[in-house]
Amino acid sequence: MDAGHMLYLVLDSDRPNPLFRSPITEPKNILDLGTGPGTWAIDVADQFPTGKSTRKKMGRLSKLRAALANIYGVDLAPPPNTWLPPNCNLQVDDALSAWTSRVKFDLIHMRLMLGAFTPTEWDDIYQKCFDNLEPGGYIEQLEPDVRVMSDDGSLDPNSLLAGWGGNFVGSSERAGRSLDTQQTMKAKIEAAGCVDVQEHLYKCPIGVWPKDKLLKDAGRINHVHWSSGLEGFAMFLLTRFGAPKPWTADEVRAYTTKVREELKAPNLHIWHYT
Ligand SMILES: C[S@@+](CC[C@H](N)C(=O)[O-])C[C@H]1O[C@@H](n2cnc3c(N)ncnc32)[C@H](O)[C@@H]1O
Repeated sequence: MDAGHMLYLVLDSDRPNPLFRSPITEPKNILDLGTGPGTWAIDVADQFPTGKSTRKKMGRLSKLRAALANIYGVDLAPPPNTWLPPNCNLQVDDALSAWTSRVKFDLIHMRLMLGAFTPTEWDDIYQKCFDNLEPGGYIEQLEPDVRVMSDDGSLDPNSLLAGWGGNFVGSSERAGRSLDTQQTMKAKIEAAGCVDVQEHLYKCPIGVWPKDKLLKDAGRINHVHWSSGLEGFAMFLLTRFGAPKPWTADEVRAYTTKVREELKAPNLHIWHYT
C-alpha cells in the first residue's frame, strides 16, 4: 500500500499539490474513506497543520497561513501507526453504516477501493459522501483498471499477465463486487448529485521502460506495487470465486509466482489505466 501511495504522488509530482486535484485551498475538514494505513490522510494533515501546539510553534506564521484543516480517516481495520499528526484522526468504522459525524467535509477522498462494495453499496457510499459535503465540496477518487496492456505487442496475448485482468475481473463479478470501479465511478458520482465531474486517466507503466523520467519513476514504483502485491490482490478472490471452481491457496501462490516472473521480462512495455 505504501508503494501505491508513492505511485500516485509520483504520477502527480509535476502538479503543485500531488496529494489531490480538487481546487480547495483552505479546507477545514477532509475525509479519507477506506484510509488503510492512513498514509494519504497523514500526508494531507502535514500539509494543513493545525492543533494548538502546532499553531503556537508556528507563532506569527500561523496568522499568515490560512490553511488549517482536520483530516479524518475511516477504515474497517485499525491503523498500524503509533504516531499521528495532531490534526489527523483515524477511526475504525464501516463506511456503509450510518454516518453520525456532525462535521461536513470540503473534500472526501477515496483511493484503491475497487472491489470493496456491490453496485448498490457504491450508490449508497456516493450518496453519503454527497450528503456530507460542505456546499461546493468535492469527492475525489483514484482507482486503477486491473487489465494490463501494451501498445507495441510486447505483451504476449497468451501470457498470464495478459489474462490477469479478465481472470481478476471475472472473479470479482462472481463475488458481486466488480473491480470495474474506474469505469463506473464517474456516472455514479454524478447520479449522487455532483456536477462538473472531471475524469483524468493515466497510462500507468509497470517497469522502468518509459523514456520520460517521471513515468520511468512511476513505472519503477508500480513494478514494486504489483510484484509485492500480487498474492494479496489475488488470494481472497481466487480462493473463493476463482474459475472454473475456487482455487486452492497453493494454486494462487503458484499462479502469482509465475505472474511475478513474467513481470521481470526486460522487453515488456506494459501499462494499465489508473
Ligand atoms: C486497498 S486498501 C486502500 C487503502 C488506502 N485508501 C490507500 O490508498 O492506501 C482498501 C481499504 O478499504 C477498506 N474498506 C473496505 N471496505 C470498507 C468499509 N465498508 N468501510 C471502511 N473501510 C473499508 C479496507 O479495510 C482497506 O483498508
